[in-house]
Amino acid sequence: MRSKVTVVGAGNVGATTAQRIHQLGYADVVLVDVVEDLPQGKSLDMLESAPVMGSDAKITGSNSYEATADSDVVVITAGIARRPGMSRDDLLLTNMRITSAVTAEVVKYSPNCIIMPVTNPLDAMVQNVFVSSGFPRNRVFGMAGVLDTARFRTFIAEELNVSVEDIQAFVLGGHGDDMVPLTRLTTVGGIPINELMAEEKIDQLVRRTRGGGGEIVELLKAGSAYYAPSAAITQMVEAVLLDKKRILPACAYLEGEYGINGLCVGVPVKLGAGGMEQVMEIKLTSEELAALKSSADSVQELVEVMNKARAEA
Ligand code: APR
Repeated sequence: MRSKVTVVGAGNVGATTAQRIHQLGYADVVLVDVVEDLPQGKSLDMLESAPVMGSDAKITGSNSYEATADSDVVVITAGIARRPGMSRDDLLLTNMRITSAVTAEVVKYSPNCIIMPVTNPLDAMVQNVFVSSGFPRNRVFGMAGVLDTARFRTFIAEELNVSVEDIQAFVLGGHGDDMVPLTRLTTVGGIPINELMAEEKIDQLVRRTRGGGGEIVELLKAGSAYYAPSAAITQMVEAVLLDKKRILPACAYLEGEYGINGLCVGVPVKLGAGGMEQVMEIKLTSEELAALKSSADSVQELVEVMNKARAEA
């Protein structure tokens, strides 16, 4: 029997993720959105591509959660993008309400699933979904590190004119601006990056990676990145469905690892059938630890804004 994956949010990221997973062929997909007929229309269109793409998997769209029952994995991309005049906190609290409502439905219909949030601000949303779900931490973890490292790997490959496949990059911390790339552990075919590139060049690529989401927004004008984000979350879903035990960066709830307790932060983890099976804890230099701590502090600030809003509600 095929696995079942639900993707909540049929916008750019959600629909592209559903398309990628459906095309892999080993999971049936349910696409959910609040907009009437949107997930139904997109999923029918994808289903009709199946004879050409060679996928026998099913894909359906729905505006309610009955159809999502007993999903193995649920990806949450539902949310709104920041609009002109909207503060960072407004966006945070709006997407908090959306992801909380989505989580309640997901948990009701798929009490044993693994949830992977993608909605931004990522780390805070993972924390919110983790807390609202009541699930153990191995069953709620978010995407971001795979995307950030994919961007970094792209820029390194381009610069060195080598295959993207040979580049292993390592990041810690929050998504985007807060990302902590460990260039010490970034390698090209096993060769440390600093043997192949000047430090200023590495710094320049790190800066471009940190602003990678913004660079796309500026080019697209309306909307944000979705091809690379959907590829990243698909790799994480695949690691779970195929029990690959992949070591990938993800946003996970830490319980003392790296000196951080009770907060969702980006760290390397092992992903397999059990979800986030292990936090990979490595020895960091004091400088790296300080950068990670500062990234965690930014997540903590957002968590406090959410806690205050919940207490006032
Ligand atoms: N339940 C289900 N779907 C919802 C809900 C809800 N409560 N609220 C909003 N949505 C849907 C919208 O109707 C829309 O179709 O979420 C979808 C979001 O799609 P887009 O606006 O196209 O946004 P997208 O580019 O897909 O990004 C989604 O992922 O990478 C992050 O920053 C990004 O937070 C954003 C999210």
